[in-house]
Amino acid sequence: MIKTAPSILSSDFSRFGEEIARLDRSSCDYIHVDVMDGHFVPNLTFGAPVVKAMRPFAKKVFDVHLMMDQPEKYLADFREAGADIIGIHREIRADLKDVLARIRALGARASLTFNPDTPVDGIEEFLPLVDQVLLMSVHPGFGGQSFIPAALDKGYRVRQAIRKGGHPVDLEIDGGINAETARLAREAGFNVLVAGSWLYKHPDFEAGLASLRG
Ligand code: DX5
Ligand code: ZN
Repeated sequence: MIKTAPSILSSDFSRFGEEIARLDRSSCDYIHVDVMDGHFVPNLTFGAPVVKAMRPFAKKVFDVHLMMDQPEKYLADFREAGADIIGIHREIRADLKDVLARIRALGARASLTFNPDTPVDGIEEFLPLVDQVLLMSVHPGFGGQSFIPAALDKGYRVRQAIRKGGHPVDLEIDGGINAETARLAREAGFNVLVAGSWLYKHPDFEAGLASLRG
């Protein structure tokens, strides 16, 4: 089953409540929430108080993607704000295994995210500790960038490792997803598709979600 995760980065920030409620009424699976700290990525969005303000407008799963240098400082805040999935980046300087364990201890699902230039070698050792692996198919920081095809081969390799390892881990892709790149991603073994600018520009949001699912 393919899951869709619209990225609210492409929504109208002045009408967050309505935008979130609209996603809740749609057939999407997750609401993808991009948190950027201006250090790990060259852009700033919002923190846990804004996620908390969004939460009453939707029942769907909040898939919170932390593009932050020190996410470990804010895990409890994001969990209390209503994050269901909390994603940290492979590239940060932290004891990743400890941070992933802390996410799970808070009752959230743990996601580990890889930038386009970060190899996925050694993924096997993380699979027992995560519920989701997210591979970026753009350099994080901004919506509307072009898909980087190298993510497909990495995805294929991570999918093989997931099959071999036997742990129930979702494989998500984020960046430059449209109907065509979604098809390639599904073929590579991704089962959770984040989509921002393409989906929000689509004249028929539900038809856009349907074409992502294939
Ligand atoms: C990029 C974010 C993405 C972004 C995707 O840093 O992590 O979630 O919103 O946007 P599109 O689909 O426009 O590439
Ligand atoms: Zn994202």
